[in-house]
Amino acid sequence: MGSFSVKPVKVGICGLGTVGGGTFNVLKRNAEEIARRAGRDIEIAQIAMRSSNPKCDIAGTPIAADVFELVDNPEVEVVVELIGGCSLARELVLKAIDNGKHVVTANKALIAVHGDELFAKAREKGVIVAFEAAVAGGIPVIKAIREGLAGNRINWVAGIINGTGNFILSEMREKGRAFADVLKEAQALGYAEADPTFDVEGIDAAHKLTILASIAFGIPLQFDKAYTEGISRLTSADVGYAEALGYRIKHLGIARRTAEGFELRVHPTLIPADRLIANVNGVMNAVMVNGDAVGSTLFCGAGAGMEPTASAVVADLVDVVRAMTSDPENRVPHLAFQPDALSAHPILPISSCESAYYLRIQAKDHPGVLAQVATILSERGINIESIMQKEAEEHDGLVPMILVTHRVRERCIDEAIAAMEALEGVVGKVVRIRVEQLN
Ligand code: HSE
Repeated sequence: MGSFSVKPVKVGICGLGTVGGGTFNVLKRNAEEIARRAGRDIEIAQIAMRSSNPKCDIAGTPIAADVFELVDNPEVEVVVELIGGCSLARELVLKAIDNGKHVVTANKALIAVHGDELFAKAREKGVIVAFEAAVAGGIPVIKAIREGLAGNRINWVAGIINGTGNFILSEMREKGRAFADVLKEAQALGYAEADPTFDVEGIDAAHKLTILASIAFGIPLQFDKAYTEGISRLTSADVGYAEALGYRIKHLGIARRTAEGFELRVHPTLIPADRLIANVNGVMNAVMVNGDAVGSTLFCGAGAGMEPTASAVVADLVDVVRAMTSDPENRVPHLAFQPDALSAHPILPISSCESAYYLRIQAKDHPGVLAQVATILSERGINIESIMQKEAEEHDGLVPMILVTHRVRERCIDEAIAAMEALEGVVGKVVRIRVEQLN
């Protein structure tokens, strides 16, 4: 430390939970390496926290009474917002920007919902709001899309972008563990959101997908238009049937360019079991990006957790320190594209999106039901890729019938499902899971 002639950059960390604690420790442990990269020492001038973190030795670090004391501290040049949530975090970040401070945040909800407002304000004040840690934990996927793939017209992005959900699905599939039990473990490991329904109902993934789509396609952040479906209704029966058909079920966020608009959807998805991404398990995340020049790329790494997320926060800090002396007009735009050059191409409703489908139908054990189902599909021009009929279940005498269709518009499969559910030989709701080949 202290090896640079320029003064250290003083940062303030708001929140010393999982990510805040990890950031504190990585900044301390790797101080010398980080300074050699940034060209200046990075000093933690102050921290603000609700409660101390037993994993951090904060002796000697000044503590603020609250986050607003920290953002008003004239010494602090960069505010690291790691308190999570939307309303207090928004207030805090706006105040930091107003005070002329740069901001680094891991807050995906904040960026997905209020990013457009925050970036506009940051531009006015000539400061940076950096958010690498908001998407896919430690994977530098924001930087990769925003800078590394800047020459491409991006066609689609598809990713496992919620570590908790992937951890739950992997443990259920590999070890037959119960959903609630695995979720508890994910919470203890610091993977899950404060409200874990954000993880299991796909909201967290939709926040991240909103951000990815914006930087991939140059569109405003439109979280309210994302279609969101979680993993809480998946059954082990469907996981097993998918395996038997050569697929694996992953919870994916998919953003795709089409002639009519952009698809923005989060849902459980069958993908061929031999795809690399189908084999990304546990808390690992993986994001595929397909560009017209580069083709398909895959970015993989830990999607949640203390130090993996801190890795991204600290990388942002280094970026901010390097850019501090640059002309604000010539910095990398927050959302990759120049703010006055965003596209107004619409986000499509889910009914206009296109996918292949896995359907599971519970049929009465008498002749003709399969023929009626096949007729419903053929009348709507829906091709069947594969079909599997199981033995009648002992407990109810019903026959599970599993079909995989070719690609079709969602509204077309909705109509077909309604017609199937109206058949006398079909009992209950038809289970539908989208299928993507990702090739
Ligand atoms: N709850 C999030 C996840 C944390 O499980 O992916 C990282 O954003």
